[in-house]
Amino acid sequence: IDPAWLPDEALRAVGSRRVRVDGEGPLADTVRAEAAYACERFGGRIVGPGDRPDLLLRLADDSLGGEGGEGGEGGGSGGNGEDCPRHPEGFTLHRTLDRTTVTASAAAPAGLLHGYFHVVRLGEAAFTPAPAATHRPALTPRMLDHWDNVDVHPVMGQVERGYAGGSLFWRDGRPRDEPHRIRAYARLLASCGIDALAVNNVNVHATEARLLTDRLDDVAAIADLLRPYGIRTHLSVSCAAPVLLGGQATADPLDPHVRAWWRETADRVYARIPDFGGFVVKADSEGQPGPFAYGRSHADGANLLADALAPHGGIVHWRAFVYDHRQDWRDRTTDRARAAHDHFAPLDGEFRPNAILQVKHGPIDFQTREPVSPVIGAMPRTRIAVELQATQEYTGQQWHVCALAPMWSQVLRFRPHGEDGPGVAGVAAGDGGGRGGGGGLVAVSNAGADPFWTGHPLAQFNLYAFGRLAWQPDADPASLLDEWIELTFTPNRTADPDRLRAGLRHVVGGSWETYEKYTAPLGVGFMVQPGHHYGPSVDGYEYSPWGTYHFADRDGVGVDRSRATGTGYAAQYGKPWSDTYETPDTCPDELLLFFHHVPYGHVLRSGKTVIQHIYDTHFEGVTEAEAARALWASLKDLVSPARHARVTERYEEQVRCAREWRDQVNSYFLRKSGVPDRHGRRIH
Ligand code: GCU
Repeated sequence: IDPAWLPDEALRAVGSRRVRVDGEGPLADTVRAEAAYACERFGGRIVGPGDRPDLLLRLADDSLGGEGGEGGEGGGSGGNGEDCPRHPEGFTLHRTLDRTTVTASAAAPAGLLHGYFHVVRLGEAAFTPAPAATHRPALTPRMLDHWDNVDVHPVMGQVERGYAGGSLFWRDGRPRDEPHRIRAYARLLASCGIDALAVNNVNVHATEARLLTDRLDDVAAIADLLRPYGIRTHLSVSCAAPVLLGGQATADPLDPHVRAWWRETADRVYARIPDFGGFVVKADSEGQPGPFAYGRSHADGANLLADALAPHGGIVHWRAFVYDHRQDWRDRTTDRARAAHDHFAPLDGEFRPNAILQVKHGPIDFQTREPVSPVIGAMPRTRIAVELQATQEYTGQQWHVCALAPMWSQVLRFRPHGEDGPGVAGVAAGDGGGRGGGGGLVAVSNAGADPFWTGHPLAQFNLYAFGRLAWQPDADPASLLDEWIELTFTPNRTADPDRLRAGLRHVVGGSWETYEKYTAPLGVGFMVQPGHHYGPSVDGYEYSPWGTYHFADRDGVGVDRSRATGTGYAAQYGKPWSDTYETPDTCPDELLLFFHHVPYGHVLRSGKTVIQHIYDTHFEGVTEAEAARALWASLKDLVSPARHARVTERYEEQVRCAREWRDQVNSYFLRKSGVPDRHGRRIH
């Protein structure tokens, strides 16, 4: 199995020193075992209380108060030093000149774990002088949703939208029974800051529904493997469970028997898994059951489960991905982008304190480019979790390099109410309004049973960056990339560190923009092949019931979502965005076709017409993909052969597919518009 960002080599700095871990309990034991492993490899040793260590990791009551430094890191979740809350996952790192021992002090064992991996990330730099600094996560929970099925689904397979082999947890209806892989996965996740994981698909089919009841032991076994790395286990459940599993006549959220059934069921879950995290729910969405069947609201549905979990400290993540997936494409008044806000914004203030509304970052569905969902800024009295998609459903399915950290960073920094209000990360942290807490950050996992974890080895960066951004949403994506490169590729152990670093920065760093260039233009989205969503099909969804249209005709393209003449979606934003998005003149170019239907001759800020922009970007995108492939080839002497070969194979497919995208999109728009390419390039 590929070591991803934790090759032994990354442990050299810690492993060549004397290390002491002061603390009791399972997490402290994990840290001790980690340090011992590192020391075995690199000649250091674990020392006892009598010996002076180079690195001391200790539980200390005074650790999180009274220290200056960079305690304010992470999306505005609080100040530094003295007013810093004693966060159970936080730690303070002392690495001052006058002390020869570098010390990570934590108030709770989870802080020891995160402190240890922080030191690993810093490497040798951890042992150079710097001001004392307190670190704690801006967002909690930092959760991965696995869209894994227990049974192989006839259409979606073992993992829905999975591009990394089978499931790490399940195979053909049974637990996969490879505990060492789950343990190694937990270790990777903990090392980048992830602390929660849902073990099954949000589309809960018959077998998976039973994980809640008679197959709970399977879940408990996974929880046992995740726990030593500080990761809580969550479960996706079906709203129909009382009927499906409990023999009830109804699943009505307000029915007393239904309420009692959920309470008893939650009690049994906690009796078996005392630190169980909670439930994830997809309700009234793409065929999943929900409260609408009983004339109840989504707050009724969420509160039912929240009440069942509350006595145990559990939370429910209730998804806001609710829309009409059977709409009539002829009906121009229905706009899928509006749906989540229409359904949920009126419910603000009605959710229980332990009910979290989990909102996809964009209003449609994880496209390469979407505006930030207006729901995130519209519910100041609701705990909001923002949902990202690490699995590359629409971004190349882990055959294309598409590093998503720059996109996620833009999302997290977006300010729904302009400069004066909290950013998206602040909302997820619980800032603003009377929401009484944050909902954290969630990503659909891109990992599976593949030997490289993520199919495409460079897609490991998406998993890593998710964890790091959830901990520190204002982290610079370029620095995170450097961090990941150092850990994963340990350039200093190669013949030409700088060439390797520069090459990797280049092929990974700009890959999202490259992917965007050769796929759907200017935020219009989709244009993918229906069903599996890989590769181009410009009209694939145009006459479908899914609500994902581009409306190209001979004169122009795009969706009019303005208030004045369109669907009114732009008006779901607060100011200034409702004004910004309202007219083509003020709308950012990259979202132009998301918000407006414009003629092909419309001139963008770049000075180019829309049609020429489409041609140019599609030629450029392919050229960039070809150049990235060549650059990767030139790194062969600096990368392990297996990893190099896997990426090389994927680049062949990326370039083939990019050319297909270019030629289909360009030919389509040439034929629609009749406008020739200014540069006379070959369009078919
Ligand atoms: C997308 C995806 C589905 C998934 C859904 C969801 O539509 O294609 O496979 O179930 O999102 O997020 O629930």
